[in-house]
Amino acid sequence: MHLLSIEETSAQQLELLIDLAVDLKATRGDHRSQPLAGQTWAIIFTKASTRTRVSFEVGIRELGGRVMFLSKDDIQLGRGEPIKDTARVLGRMVHGAVIRTFSQQDVVDFAHFSGIPTINALTDDEHPCQILADLLTIREKLGGWSGKKIVFIGDGDNNMSRSWMWAAKYLGFELVVAAPKECLPPSEFLIRLNAANVSLTSDPVEAVKGAHVVNTDVWLSMGQEGQMEKEALFGDFQVNKELLSHCAEGHIVLHCLPAYREKEITEEVLELHSDTIFQQAENRLHAQKAVLARVDPYDLLRS
Ligand code: CP
Ligand code: NVA
Repeated sequence: MHLLSIEETSAQQLELLIDLAVDLKATRGDHRSQPLAGQTWAIIFTKASTRTRVSFEVGIRELGGRVMFLSKDDIQLGRGEPIKDTARVLGRMVHGAVIRTFSQQDVVDFAHFSGIPTINALTDDEHPCQILADLLTIREKLGGWSGKKIVFIGDGDNNMSRSWMWAAKYLGFELVVAAPKECLPPSEFLIRLNAANVSLTSDPVEAVKGAHVVNTDVWLSMGQEGQMEKEALFGDFQVNKELLSHCAEGHIVLHCLPAYREKEITEEVLELHSDTIFQQAENRLHAQKAVLARVDPYDLLRS
């Protein structure tokens, strides 16, 4: 089993992973279950990371595995060796790989050519591990997502918004994506998504009316640094106290972090909701342990 995207999952898989994450969180420190014992995993990152890197390194070790971190500059990938060659080499040596990079196709190719379980730790298209942690946080804070109005406000066409849209399609909650019109997902994506419970708007106040969850992310994703014309589009899309006054009582605020204060979120709101936001960050560990516990390299070798 791989985790390459939320798109390729199902409601059943998502529910199962969240249930398992709840369980693993409750039993952390009880090391009777060591599903990765005897395994070595590679973490291959071509973009920066704090949460994802640390949570995977800790999670793999807690499940009994060994881990090696390879930044692109540590390996020949950074000097232009093709991903399919890197995959064919690592696939003969390690038991699984966690990859953060730009192109989704690179992660798909790695999974194909390596033949080992491959986990997408963020591409330009999706951030599936983050969405699992976010769902776990919603389950803990609000008891679940059923009947809830969830809003994603920010870049409507980035890895976070796309993964959220797939999660909404499969899990059936109402999702509103609020973004400047230039940053809404293109029609080809929406046709593929085909989800009546996902709506788009460029009116942030309308979007958050009655919302139970307000979720935001950086305006410029990794690789887009310096795109000042793009950043200038987001003036009305800041998560601040005034905007949140339109939400339902008891609403929560999520941010995958890192956060740029006074841009997509004010310092005031971030600190007011820091309990939830850092619980969300911690949940990366528990959610990813659930993913790691479900992937079985030996299963792939047999298939
Ligand atoms: N949210 C997230 O993926 O954080 P990092 O970039 O620090 O891994
Ligand atoms: N959309 C952001 C997510 C960071 C965790 C980015 O890709 O930089």
